[in-house]
Amino acid sequence: MPAPVRFELQATDPGSAARTGVLHTPHGAVETPAFMPVGTQATVKGVLPELLRASGSRMLLANTYHLALRPGEGVVARLGGLHRFMAWDGPILTDSGGFQAFSMSDRASLTERGVAFRSHLDGSLLDLTPERAIAIQESLGADVAMVLDHCPALPAEKSAIAEATDRTIRWARRCKEARSRADQAVFGIVQGGAHADLRRECAERLVELGFDGYAIGGVSVGESPDEVRKAMEVTSPHLPTDQSRYLMGVGRPQDVLDAIAAGVDLFDCVLPTRNGRNATCLSMRGPVRLRNAAHKADPRPIEEGCDCPACSRFSRSYLRHLFLAGEMLGPILASIHNLAFLHRLVRTAREAIGEGRYVQFRAEALEALGP
Ligand code: GUN
Ligand code: ZN
Repeated sequence: MPAPVRFELQATDPGSAARTGVLHTPHGAVETPAFMPVGTQATVKGVLPELLRASGSRMLLANTYHLALRPGEGVVARLGGLHRFMAWDGPILTDSGGFQAFSMSDRASLTERGVAFRSHLDGSLLDLTPERAIAIQESLGADVAMVLDHCPALPAEKSAIAEATDRTIRWARRCKEARSRADQAVFGIVQGGAHADLRRECAERLVELGFDGYAIGGVSVGESPDEVRKAMEVTSPHLPTDQSRYLMGVGRPQDVLDAIAAGVDLFDCVLPTRNGRNATCLSMRGPVRLRNAAHKADPRPIEEGCDCPACSRFSRSYLRHLFLAGEMLGPILASIHNLAFLHRLVRTAREAIGEGRYVQFRAEALEALGP
């Protein structure tokens, strides 16, 4: 049985753990490092598939939790699976739902069996077990499914984090045993908070079980950038170099650059689209806030030299006007620019790694981006 996804390592950076590669999936290849836009409800908010592709998106993330509640994975399966349903023919990764059950639903309760919670939509009682998380993701038909994990709320005692980490490993084993689709990869998720020993143990035990790739979880729950960096640095040495590594929920440009230096290949985050909807745009000179009065008659694009559909035709003045008038094209264009910006940042990082100059590239980029 051929592996559903295969990671092909290409270049490694002499001055850091950064690397480039290609993730081969049933829906095509993705050059890494790569940023995955978030399409929680089977749509990257406001952005048509062709514009996603034009902005540099190659692989998307969607959410099991939301799609299982609405429209239901059975509906998606009847309509030909997630790719057909949302008209995206590139690779898709689905998160497993546990993380969202804890953050979105009313009163999630945890047992060894799984997570029981009330739907945030209609209050109905639902049960998400490792087996069910895999079954839903198989119905959705993503290229990569994630194991059901337990990401404890922080701050927490080390003993509580250790317990969540052990549970994550037991659930990962159940997910592995439950899988039945040969054309879908399953990634394990490393938990362990800020504790190097827990992270190491979790990584080693997941690698023993054997997954198609590994994610670093539990790092977008309100810690400082330094803690995020530490979690990555202590985890990635314990992951196989010939499989992909995915840092969940991280998308601040500075954090992405740090994670790439620690050897991370894949990212996802709502930041570019959420910030875009709030009129905050990313640029290599720090954020551009389009509602700011300074842009009232500003003829410049969001970012000089950006070839995205927003910057190639529209001024900051026009975009500001769209936001102040409540026109929906404003959030759409700002989202597209922010996606194009992050994809460009990651692509130029990839080029720098290929040329063995990532350390210098990162230092210059961090200097330009500011804190
Ligand atoms: N998204 C961001 N962080 C996490 C995590 O720790 N686990 C899962 N499943 N999804 C995430
Ligand atoms: Zn742009």
